[in-house]
Amino acid sequence: MLITSALPYANGPIHLGHLVEYIQTDIWARFQRARGHEAIYVCADDAHGTPIMLKARAEGIEPEELITRVRKEHEADFAGFLVEFNHYHSTHSEENRYCATRIYEGLRAAGHIAVRTIQQAYDPEAGMFLPDRFIKGTCPKCGAADQYGDSCEACGATYSPTDLIDPVSAISGARPVARDSEHYFFRLADFEAFLRDWTGSGRLQSAIRNKLNEWFEAGLADWDISRDAPYFGFEIPDAPGKFFYVWLDAPIGYMASFKAYAEANGLDFDAWWGSGAEPEMYHFIGKDIAYFHTLFWPAMLQGAGFRTPTAVFCHGFLTVNGQKMSKSRGTFIRARDFLDHLNPEALRYYFAAKLGSGVDDIDLSLDDFVQRVNADLVGKVVNIASRCAGFLTKRFDGKLADTLPRPDMHAHFVAAGDAIAAAYENREYSLAMRQIMALADQANQYIDEARPWVLAKDPERSGEVQAICTQGLDLFRILIVYLAPVLPRLAGHAAAFLNQEDISWDGRLQPLTGGRINAYVPLMTRVEPASVEALIEASRQDLEPTTPSPTESNAGMPAMDPIAETIDYETFSRIDLRVARIAAAEYVEGADKLLRLTLDLGGEQRQVFAGIRSAYAPEDLAGRLTVMVANLAPRKMRFGVSEGMVLAAGPGGQDLFILTPDEGAQPGMRIK
Ligand code: MSP
Ligand code: ZN
Repeated sequence: MLITSALPYANGPIHLGHLVEYIQTDIWARFQRARGHEAIYVCADDAHGTPIMLKARAEGIEPEELITRVRKEHEADFAGFLVEFNHYHSTHSEENRYCATRIYEGLRAAGHIAVRTIQQAYDPEAGMFLPDRFIKGTCPKCGAADQYGDSCEACGATYSPTDLIDPVSAISGARPVARDSEHYFFRLADFEAFLRDWTGSGRLQSAIRNKLNEWFEAGLADWDISRDAPYFGFEIPDAPGKFFYVWLDAPIGYMASFKAYAEANGLDFDAWWGSGAEPEMYHFIGKDIAYFHTLFWPAMLQGAGFRTPTAVFCHGFLTVNGQKMSKSRGTFIRARDFLDHLNPEALRYYFAAKLGSGVDDIDLSLDDFVQRVNADLVGKVVNIASRCAGFLTKRFDGKLADTLPRPDMHAHFVAAGDAIAAAYENREYSLAMRQIMALADQANQYIDEARPWVLAKDPERSGEVQAICTQGLDLFRILIVYLAPVLPRLAGHAAAFLNQEDISWDGRLQPLTGGRINAYVPLMTRVEPASVEALIEASRQDLEPTTPSPTESNAGMPAMDPIAETIDYETFSRIDLRVARIAAAEYVEGADKLLRLTLDLGGEQRQVFAGIRSAYAPEDLAGRLTVMVANLAPRKMRFGVSEGMVLAAGPGGQDLFILTPDEGAQPGMRIK
């Protein structure tokens, strides 16, 4: 089977939201392989489009240089999280140009491409047509300023850029003009009958199928697949100056990545992609891009004479602590920062413990994360091994007993594998994790009741101790087999410790007896809340306080936090706001966003690290009065403890304004 994850855009870092998908897919691919299937997992960077072209321009480099750099970062991040692709490619590749051309020409030959002239917003200064997201103006519905051309973040209205009041180009600031241009369209409606049948044949989750029915009712419009130069992408055959829209060649990237893999590994491309090909093909995607994958993509494949996907699996979006990931709250967490502070397998486990087969959003609650990983993996699973290993190494030179005292328990653990496998297969990972942890409880209970540490005091009963510990490790090994798709590194270390390399699903059948184990090394350590705090802090510091660069509209993160929910008076009154005098301000070595402030509260002094260096030099601040939160719990940061917070307004960068009280205010005064 061929398995894919959506291709991440090559203009930004991988964050924890992305990782929901890559970890979900990787677990599935590893599970399939453990079950003896040939499962090829491919992915690629999505390298084309206006945002990438403009980002490269802003950095003063060629797009090729940008996408090469980002691809390296992405690959390193994925490797860090043990996401193991068979191949990782780029949509900006010869394979993709070849496949995109072949599909386009196939569609054109079959009459599915239409050409007509449309009017579009054009930036006369930048000399280019503007994607909706690159036009800003005042929302026609609610009057909010500075909204994107396709939707308003203040009131949620969607509209077309021509409806905006006082529109300006986000690139040059010029007022866009309407201009004619010839565009190429994919006639999606030609495929309505095919799509109704295809989408109704058990390939999609019910929530997605319902959504599709709405789309069918609304009617399938032609899809604009061309963009005018300047554009970073592939030029359309026989259409100089016209390029494939990034979303045309993006899914074709799945094909291209497979093609590169096939060529390197002697596989027959057509046997996998030709019409009616035998192997199964599964796409894992986020629900935001379902339209592309369940309508355009199968229709394109069908129209050009290729096979269509066996199924498309959508997942929901990640929230952190119950809210949308937020840069200012430090919950927009980059993969790299996580790896700098925490164990990637902790996140893999936590996601697995939360993921079901549906499209519901999943929440990473950081307190729950710490608690859950420590309780389940350290407290239950690894604990079994550490309880048993000591006796065997110290008293029996690592030698296991020749038979199990409780073969019934072995059989029970083995039998549970069928239900666990079914849960994995159906992407009900949270169910699988619950079943595995219930077994871990049983294994611990067995050891508790057998009490090897009591028997160990009696030399007569040493044979029993050896047998109990052997049984414990046998059960542990079965659990490791079940957890291996989620925790491949831990499983590898456990297998080495047990001298038992086979951790395939069937490898669990054979009891772990007779051999010898190696010295035990801790397989996993506790997640420390302080590391999580440090991660949040680092994520806050990472905040590049520039205007957010627009992305393709499927992936829009809001530019600013909307006004939060209301709080009651009591909650507000618990915040102790004080006038403070900035007694000293200094740079912090190694932190390019922070200043260390010494705040005087009229007698008491506090050290506070403030992320305001982009807007203030130390000498601007010393001696000034400002406002601080005085009862914020102290927070340990990389550079010391921060004992409060100063207040500042503004989007960031140089536009950051600390508060100053009116004349007459004295340090230490409470703000009410
Ligand atoms: N480039 C397109 C996909 C093209 S596939 C032919 C794209 N890229 S993306 O970088 O924005 O997103 C990549 C994948 O990550 C998508 O499936 C998207 O749904 C998923 N996620 C991005 N942010 C996410 C969360 N916050 N939570 C869960 N998944 C998220 O879309
Ligand atoms: Zn609005």
